Amino acid sequence: MHRRMLVPSALAACLLMAIPASAADYVPGAPGMGDSYYPSGGNGGYDVSHYDLRLTYQPATDLLQGTATILATTTQNLSRFNLDLGLRVSEVRVNGRKATFGTSGEQELEITPAVPLKRNQPVSVVVRYAGKPSEVRIGGWTAWHRTPDGGVAAQEPESAAWWFPSNDHPLDKATFDISVAVPDGTQAISNGVLRSQSSKLGWTRYNWRSDKPQATYLATLAVGRFDITTDTTESGLPVLNAYSRDLGDNAGAARASVERTAEVAEWLEGVFGPYPFGALGGYVPNVTSGYALETQTRPFYSPRQFANGSNVSVVVHELAHQWYGDSVSVHHWKDIWVNEGFARYSQWLWSEKEGEGTAQELADHVYATRPAEDPFWTVAPGDPGPDDQFHIAVYDRGALALQALRNEIGEEDFFAVLRGWPTEFAYGNAKVGDFVRYAERVSGRPLAELFDTWLYRPVKPAAPAAAGVGVGLRPAGVEARASAAGPAEPASWKKIAETNTVHDREATARGHGTR
Ligand code: ARG
Ligand code: ZN
Repeated sequence: MHRRMLVPSALAACLLMAIPASAADYVPGAPGMGDSYYPSGGNGGYDVSHYDLRLTYQPATDLLQGTATILATTTQNLSRFNLDLGLRVSEVRVNGRKATFGTSGEQELEITPAVPLKRNQPVSVVVRYAGKPSEVRIGGWTAWHRTPDGGVAAQEPESAAWWFPSNDHPLDKATFDISVAVPDGTQAISNGVLRSQSSKLGWTRYNWRSDKPQATYLATLAVGRFDITTDTTESGLPVLNAYSRDLGDNAGAARASVERTAEVAEWLEGVFGPYPFGALGGYVPNVTSGYALETQTRPFYSPRQFANGSNVSVVVHELAHQWYGDSVSVHHWKDIWVNEGFARYSQWLWSEKEGEGTAQELADHVYATRPAEDPFWTVAPGDPGPDDQFHIAVYDRGALALQALRNEIGEEDFFAVLRGWPTEFAYGNAKVGDFVRYAERVSGRPLAELFDTWLYRPVKPAAPAAAGVGVGLRPAGVEARASAAGPAEPASWKKIAETNTVHDREATARGHGTR
């Protein structure tokens, strides 16, 4: 006020124009990202670049206390904005000043900064919070696995709200520093590189860093008593695997599988191109659920996947996601096929190289064992709907689509597409349509009909022999190697099926499961 009176009037007018005239120019950020499957997932009005989480977790009580510092840039003038969090908040600061806050729904933290935020400005948000993740229910569902010695956050499409405030949607990726203090003798496992670890007054603090963009659902935390193995790959990447000390008689099979992470990643590099991240590994906590998840650089495996001996196929699946899902992520959740179709197909390729059945034989087997009246054919992998997001059709019919593509465009172009895509969309997001266009560009052929047949139409495509070119399940004129009883079951079939997250009660509670 005073200063303005001291400057010449023309300049004063300019200054006044630069200052937004009224509070009406500032509006609340949207409470969701506009995802048709999960309308309240994520928020509008800003873009996060970095999360710094400083946490303390007590396994005996399941109490998590944290301070999250979130660096973002506003994308509009904001009077207030939301973060997604299920835990209790005690203080919020925006750009250093205390902000007022409230909650709405089960996971919306509404923050009103002391001073409205102008568009395109850097903003820092500090959130102090605490609570017991096992007590958080969102839509009647939990993403937190309470274990006898701690807890684990690993779920899809969401798990962040159980342990940190975020813009919880894959469209807003960021780098992470995750620092967790746990009682001595307990370990805290997370993503990326373990930068350091130190012990003080009975607590050990683990400092993890993810220096490449990471979607919020791919951030993970596991606290418990783990045995840790470390190594360095030939190309110099740090490998860190962690196994709960409480895996019972699955312990050997779990290690015999996950210890092959570096070998599998090297093989996948031959198919998909350079590994996109600076660290790798996996962890097997003592959870009772039955699914695995491609948490970035460090997939989460369930001990149940190793109940019948080693399962390298599931390691192949989760590591394939590092390219297809983690580096290149879904745009909206309806694009889930760009994750699961490819992760499943990579298991078929592994089977092919191991001599346990070619991808074509696996495709023939799926086709032969799913009669036309099986609901399998009514699920469209290209847009399955939220209740069927992880339906087996997204995986198996999704992989059939890729076998059809391979037969249509030939080996050379097909593998050029598989390898080119992760570079084309590295560290970003992509839609099913982007893949169709990319494959058309690389192969120089129209592919709309083929993808429509395999990804969208709610019917079983006509038998390959009768269908001819265009449907593509096998090259024109080539018959399935079949007896009257149909194609034989490939040797890898049962092992691949162990990856399926079938009958996962916990996960199906909110329509988030597979069938
Ligand atoms: N992306 C995970 C996989 O690798 C699927 C996890 C689905 N979650 C669930 N609870 N079913 O297949
Ligand atoms: Zn998957």
